[in-house]
Amino acid sequence: MGKTTRWIKIFESEEALHNCVPPGRIYLIQADRKSICIVHSKEGFYAVQEKCPHNGASLSRGWCSEVNSIVCPMHRYHFDLKTGRALSGLGDRLQTYPLKTEENGVFLGIEESGWSWW
Ligand code: FES
Repeated sequence: MGKTTRWIKIFESEEALHNCVPPGRIYLIQADRKSICIVHSKEGFYAVQEKCPHNGASLSRGWCSEVNSIVCPMHRYHFDLKTGRALSGLGDRLQTYPLKTEENGVFLGIEESGWSWW
C-alpha cells in the first residue's frame, strides 16, 4: 500500500500563524508527539524536526540564514529548509513536513505508511 498523509491542525488561522511566527523567527510546536520547528524564512513557512541530527541540539534555538536554511546553535551546521539536507556536504538530514492552509486553519502533514500487519 502507498503512503498517506495525516493532516494535523497546528494553527486556527493563517493570521494566527503569522502572529506566532514573525519573519525570521522559529517557533516550537508539539504535534503527533514530535517536537517540530515552524520557521518563517524569506521564502515562506517551513516545518522541520526540532532535534539537530548531528548531535541533538535544539534547532528552535537556532536561526534562519540568508540562503533559506536553518542554522544549528551548537556547531552552526546549515540545513536547507526545503529539502532538510545539510548544506556542507554532510550526510545529516532533517525531517521536513508539508504545511497547508485551509479555510479552517493551518495544517501540518505527517506521512504514514498505509501498511498494517493486522
Ligand atoms: S548539534 Fe547541530 S550542528 Fe552539531
